[in-house]
Amino acid sequence: MHIHSAIADLRAALKPRGRIVFVPTMGNLHAGHISLMQQARAHGDTVVASIFVNRLQFGPNEDFDKYPRTFQADCDKLAAAGVDVLFAPTESDLYPEPQEYFIEPPGIQDVLDGEFRPGHFRGVATVVTKLFNCVQPQVALFGKKDYQQLMVIRNMTRQLAMPIDIVGGETVRADDGLALSSRNGYLSAAERAEAPRLYRLLCELRQAVRCGETDFVKLEKSVIEQLTAAGWKTDYVAVRQQSDLTPPESANAPLVVLAASRLGNTRLIDNIEL
Ligand code: PAF
Repeated sequence: MHIHSAIADLRAALKPRGRIVFVPTMGNLHAGHISLMQQARAHGDTVVASIFVNRLQFGPNEDFDKYPRTFQADCDKLAAAGVDVLFAPTESDLYPEPQEYFIEPPGIQDVLDGEFRPGHFRGVATVVTKLFNCVQPQVALFGKKDYQQLMVIRNMTRQLAMPIDIVGGETVRADDGLALSSRNGYLSAAERAEAPRLYRLLCELRQAVRCGETDFVKLEKSVIEQLTAAGWKTDYVAVRQQSDLTPPESANAPLVVLAASRLGNTRLIDNIEL
């Protein structure tokens, strides 16, 4: 695996490499990321991963400083997964001057996670655009665990006519159902044992919808109450249309339930398509 930190070196290395498939990450890689790397192989000739903890997408009181940085272990995992090229820019490689031009997503950046993380999706859209410009891939893969992020990136790519196919990878879960996330590492042993409740309750909500329940507000409230009773602090549990993440207009539209809730100091997100 070749590793580049400078944009010019990366571009030179990728020139003769055919169809490029790209998987951007912030490192601290787990089986969910590795699954994306493995899927990437089927989409082109050269698999490129990136590792960059992007300051722009973290709020002032969020975990940018303590976000786990495990570069050597990540490199070993990427090499073992058959990744061809790793782009690992430093902050001054990617932001050599203060970033003053941004990609501003529309209203979708102000709802759900965007409501609780102002500026987050603007930071994501901006860095993903910049990474796309560095790597110039034909295909890029993103995990469905960050459902809203995937939608923002899909819509941005389409509306800005970026010649890149966006592919969503299924969420990878631990045996007890907890969605894999770098932030799971913040959980204490007791919190880790409690954490699968979020997925369990989302599955119960899905079951209720499958059995014909259409009072989504009641279902959302019930999940929030059960989380609260178990000591969680919930930002949102929301049944939304898969197409645009707006509230359901009909029970026949494909739906997804999305949730964000805090266990101690750790904010977990999850979602399942209904
Ligand atoms: O999902 C992530 O890890 C990040 O948001 C991404 C897409 C790499 C942009 O920094």
